[in-house]
Amino acid sequence: MSCAPFVSSPHDVVRKMLEVAKATKDDVVVDLGCGDGRILATAVKDFGVKAAFGYEIREDLFKTASGEVEKLNLTNKVHVYNRDLFQADLKEATLITLYLTTYANERLKPKLRAEAKPGSRIVSHDFMINGWKPSRKENYNEHTIYVYSIPESYSM
Ligand SMILES: C[S@@+](CC[C@H](N)C(=O)[O-])C[C@H]1O[C@@H](n2cnc3c(N)ncnc32)[C@H](O)[C@@H]1O
Repeated sequence: MSCAPFVSSPHDVVRKMLEVAKATKDDVVVDLGCGDGRILATAVKDFGVKAAFGYEIREDLFKTASGEVEKLNLTNKVHVYNRDLFQADLKEATLITLYLTTYANERLKPKLRAEAKPGSRIVSHDFMINGWKPSRKENYNEHTIYVYSIPESYSM
C-alpha cells in the first residue's frame, strides 16, 4: 500500500538532511520510499557513506532509481529494491531517511522501535514522528528536518 505520493526532496534539502544527521563514511543509509534514488546517490557520492539501500513500491520509480545508480557507477554501494518499505531490512542501517507523511510515520513506529538498532538515527523531511522527541530539528527554507536518535527519542 502506498504511504505517500512521489514528491522528490529538492537536492539542497537532501544535502541538508544528510548534514543535519551527520552522515559519515561509517554509515549505512536506508531510504524508505526512495523515489528516484537521489538520497542514496548523494549519501554515497557526497558524504562517502559505506552503503545505501532504497525501497520503492512503484515499479517505474524503482527503474528510474536503478538506472540512475548504474549511470553514476554506484552499483557497488547502492542497492534499490522494488519492495514495500514495511519489508525493509533495517539490521545494517545506521541512518534511516524518510519523506513520507505523519500518518505513514505513525504506522512505521512499531517497525522502527523493533528493528532500528541502538545508536542509529532517523532523519525525516517535513514530517515528524508523533510522540517521539527529536534530537535535532532544523528549519531550512520552507522545509523542516527532524533527526531522531535510537533509542533516546522514544524512551523518555
Ligand atoms: C515523498 S516521496 C520521497 C522520495 C525520496 N525519499 C525523496 O526524499 O526524494 C515518497 C516515496 O515513497 C514511495 N512509497 C510510498 N509508499 C511506499 C511503500 N509502502 N513502500 C515503498 N515505497 C513507498 C512513493 O512511491 C514515493 O516515491
